[in-house]
Amino acid sequence: MILPPDEKSVNLGDSHLSIEGLVDIHVHILPGLDDGAKTRDDAIAMTAIAAKHGTSRIVATPHVDPLRLRHGSRQVKTIKEEVDSLKESIASCGLSVQVMPGMEIAIAPDLVGYLDRGEVIPVADAGKYVLVEFPFQMIPSYAEEEIFNMAANGYIPIIAHPERNASVIHNPNVLIPFLKAGALAHVNADSLTGREGQRPRKTAEILLSHGLAHIIASDGHSSTSRRPRLDLAFEIAAGLMGEDEALKTVRDTPLAIALGEDVSVPEPEEYKARRKWWL
Ligand SMILES: [Fe+2]
Repeated sequence: MILPPDEKSVNLGDSHLSIEGLVDIHVHILPGLDDGAKTRDDAIAMTAIAAKHGTSRIVATPHVDPLRLRHGSRQVKTIKEEVDSLKESIASCGLSVQVMPGMEIAIAPDLVGYLDRGEVIPVADAGKYVLVEFPFQMIPSYAEEEIFNMAANGYIPIIAHPERNASVIHNPNVLIPFLKAGALAHVNADSLTGREGQRPRKTAEILLSHGLAHIIASDGHSSTSRRPRLDLAFEIAAGLMGEDEALKTVRDTPLAIALGEDVSVPEPEEYKARRKWWL
C-alpha cells in the first residue's frame, strides 16, 4: 500500500478562511506522463495536500501537444487508465478526493478535429470545456480563429493561466476578443500568491477583477514546489472581489465545468491602466 508522506515535513502555510468542496480543474498529478508528479507516491502526496486544504475534486491534466501526437487515442487511453489506477491508490490511503481525466492542450490548428476524433479530451472527459494553453511568449496569430472555431462547434475553451503570457501581461485587454468568442480563462493560484513573480500576480488580479478570468486552478506539479492548493489564492481573491464571488472561482464555476454543466460569468470589462500623474 502507498502511504501519504508525513505532511509535517512540508511547510504548507495556513489560510485563515476554512473552505471545502473546492474543485481544481488543472493539476499535473498523473505520474510519469509529463513534468508533474514523478511517482505514484508524489501523486498521493499531492492529493493529500489538496485534501487537507479543501479540494475534493481534481482534474488530471497532463500536457498534450496535438502537433506531436502520433497515436492520440492511445494517449487518451493511457490517461484514463492512469486516473483509474490513481483512484484506487487514493481510496486505499483513505483520502476522499475524486480524480477525473483531462488534458492541458497546447493551442494548435484544428483542435476541433482532434476533439471530434477523440485524440484529445475535454475537461473531466465530460462535455464541452477544453483546457487550452497558449505559449508564454506570445499569442499565435491563428489563436483567435481557432478559439472561434471551437466555440462555433459547441466547445468552450478555457485559456490556461493567461496572466503568465507576455502579451496579456503587456495588455490584459487582448483577452477580450477570445472571451467574447465564448472562451473562459483561469488564473493560477500561485500567480495570485506572488510565487510566479510580481507581473503575473498583478495581471492575475486585473483579470479576476475585470471579468477577464473566471476560475482559479492550481496548475499543481508536485508536493513541494508547485503544490495543488487553492485555499490561499481563494483568500486573496476574497479580498479582491468578496467571498461570494471568490467562492465561484474555486468551487461553483469549476464544479459546473467538471460536470459539463453551463456556467454564467460576467461580461468582460476593459482594463484601463492608470496614467502616471506626470503624463
Ligand atoms: Fe499546466
